[in-house]
Amino acid sequence: MHGSQCGFCTPGFIMSLWAMYENEQHCPSKDQVSNYLSGNLCRCTGYRPIFDAAQKAYDYPRILLKRQKVIEVLKEIKALPALHLNDHGQQFFAPKTLQDFAALRLQLPQARIVAGSTDVGLWVTKQGRNLGDMLYIGQVEELKKIVVTDHALTIGANVSLSDALIKISDVYPDFQELQRRFASMPIKNAGTLGGNIANGSPIGDSMPALITLGTRLILRAGEQTREIALEDFYIDYQKTALQLGEFVEAIVIPLREGQTSFKFASYKIAKRFEQDISAVCAAISCDLDNDDVAHNVRIAFGGMAAIPKRAKYAEAILEGQQLTAELIVLAQEALSKDYQPLDDGRASSAYRLHVAKNCLQRFYVEKILSQTITRVNDLIAMMEI
Ligand code: FES
Repeated sequence: MHGSQCGFCTPGFIMSLWAMYENEQHCPSKDQVSNYLSGNLCRCTGYRPIFDAAQKAYDYPRILLKRQKVIEVLKEIKALPALHLNDHGQQFFAPKTLQDFAALRLQLPQARIVAGSTDVGLWVTKQGRNLGDMLYIGQVEELKKIVVTDHALTIGANVSLSDALIKISDVYPDFQELQRRFASMPIKNAGTLGGNIANGSPIGDSMPALITLGTRLILRAGEQTREIALEDFYIDYQKTALQLGEFVEAIVIPLREGQTSFKFASYKIAKRFEQDISAVCAAISCDLDNDDVAHNVRIAFGGMAAIPKRAKYAEAILEGQQLTAELIVLAQEALSKDYQPLDDGRASSAYRLHVAKNCLQRFYVEKILSQTITRVNDLIAMMEI
């Protein structure tokens, strides 16, 4: 279908299309194809011929890989003892139990913890950095669990971003856009929510939303555990509250009953819609009573400070008040006290502040004003009856 010209992008497209072909029994829609291909960029053909090829493949009898042999080999690898490599004194451990990992972490507190390596891997390939000793947690089954109770969603630090984000979106549907735009499918399959959080990047996309949802972390050192609010975890640029020998064991996201009064939104601002690093990532939440009075207002931004950070001044303006357009303007102004964002290649300081203010307004229009308009329309309909 002429989907390849110079071919530079073709290997990535082929791998993504193959994953789609294996996963989807029937010819996928354009939207589905787009989701599978997101993160692959082609400079030559434009995307239509590639989309055409993706769908054309379903005109032919399906040919799938013989998986049984692959599964058997993978099972054999899984049964091997825990891996330990030593290369000229540089150590690599791949423990298989939480207990072994916790013990190794105490022995080697400076070692780099790696899971999907979707960020740390770039430190090597782009910056030529030596990661030193490494503790790989990809085989620690206890860290791969998701537990749902009436009150909380507990996600192990080694749960993939794909699984974690889908689960969070199930209970908080407003998380869905962020889930889609977070990263490409292969990256979400390899990367972990625990890694995104523990890395402490000021532009990590999960933290603002999780902070507004009141997320807590379970930290572990040896056999000891403690809990900390996610917002208190970040101390300074890429500096966290983790103490020597400690690690993030799980992420605990509170669940809410009577979600109708709970308003929540998360907005990702990036130059490209799909799979781009955010210039600003916003999350806003509150409980709204029948008089439109906001309680428990939480506003958090990524990309606005050296750490993911709450907007305490703006929150104070809105807390306990009936939300009106005038009040939102005051909260927008207060954002200038909360943040003095940086200029960088992604966005200027002025742009970041401007777009952050717009996010507050968008939340007001989408979540508060639209509800009022619906109520007024309902009232008019009743009166007509
Ligand atoms: Fe040239 Fe895609 S075919 S970049």
